Amino acid sequence: MKTVLITGCSSGFGLETARLFLDRGWQVVATMRTPRDDALPRSERLRVLPLDVTDAASIRSCLAAAGPVDALVNNAGIGLLGALEGIPMAQVRELFETNTFGTMAVTQAVLPQMRERRAGVVVNVTSSVTLKSLPLLAVYTASKAAVNAFTESLALELAPFGVRATLVLPGRAPTTRFGENARSRMAGSIPPAYAELAGAVFADWAQQPADAVTQAPDVAEAVWRAVTDPACPRRLAAGVDAVALMPA
Ligand SMILES: NC(=O)c1ccc[n+]([C@@H]2O[C@H](COP(=O)([O-])OP(=O)(O)OC[C@H]3O[C@@H](n4cnc5c(N)ncnc54)[C@H](OP(=O)(O)O)[C@@H]3O)[C@@H](O)[C@H]2O)c1
Repeated sequence: MKTVLITGCSSGFGLETARLFLDRGWQVVATMRTPRDDALPRSERLRVLPLDVTDAASIRSCLAAAGPVDALVNNAGIGLLGALEGIPMAQVRELFETNTFGTMAVTQAVLPQMRERRAGVVVNVTSSVTLKSLPLLAVYTASKAAVNAFTESLALELAPFGVRATLVLPGRAPTTRFGENARSRMAGSIPPAYAELAGAVFADWAQQPADAVTQAPDVAEAVWRAVTDPACPRRLAAGVDAVALMPA
C-alpha cells in the first residue's frame, strides 16, 4: 500500500485531495498546522500530523513520524491580493516563506528516502496565474512562478533516480478558504490610487459562474493523475478556467 503526504489539509484542495486518496485505498498522511480529527473520515489508513512548512523543526518531526512516503503533495499556500507598493516587504517575504521556500524545504527533507528507494513523486501545487498574469497579484504570482521553475529543473535532476517532480496549476477557486485566509494580510494592500483597478478585478470575478471556475475536486483529480500516471504532462492544469489557459 502506498503512502501520500499532503501539506495544508485543514481546508480546500489539500482536504479534498486527502479524501480522494483515502477513497482510492492509499495510506494518507494529512498534515495541518493545527491538526483536527474531525476534518476527514476515520480510517486506519489515515494519520493526521502537525506540519508548518515554514518551520524546520516541524518538518523534521513530521517526516520522522510519517515514515516512508511514496508521494509528496506540496499544497500548503497563502494568498495576497494587492498592489506592490501597498505590500510591506515583510509580507512579500512571508508569502515566499510559505509558498516557495516551504515547498522547497519539505521537498528537500523527503528526497533522500525517495532517491535511495529509486521511486517517488513530488507534486507541487502552483497556480494558473503563472499562465496568464492578473493585476494585483504580482507577489503571489512570483512566489508560484518560482516553484514552477524550481520544479522543472528538479524534475531533470531527479529523473536519473526514478523520482518524478510535477506541477498542478489550479484556476481560481472561490469556494476554498483561500480568499478569506488572505484577507488578514490585505490591510492597506490596495492604496486609493489602485481602488478602481481592484474594483474592476472584483467585478470580473463576481460575474464568473460556478461552472467557469475551479472546484476542489478538479484539483484532487489532477493531483491523483500527477501521482499515479507517470506519463502525465509535467504541468497539469486543474479546473476549466486553468485548462483554457494551458498552451496546446
Ligand atoms: N483557491 C484558489 O483560488 C487557488 C488557485 C490556484 C492555486 N491555489 C493554491 O492551492 C493551494 C491550496 O489553496 P486552497 O485554495 O485550498 O486554500 P485554503 O483553503 O486556504 O488552504 C490552504 C492550506 O494551506 C495551509 N497553510 C498555510 N500556511 C501554511 C504553513 N505555513 N504550513 C502548513 N500549512 C499551511 C492552510 O492551513 P491553515 O488552516 O493552518 O491556515 C490550509 O490548510 C495553495 O498553495 C494555493 O496557493 C489556490
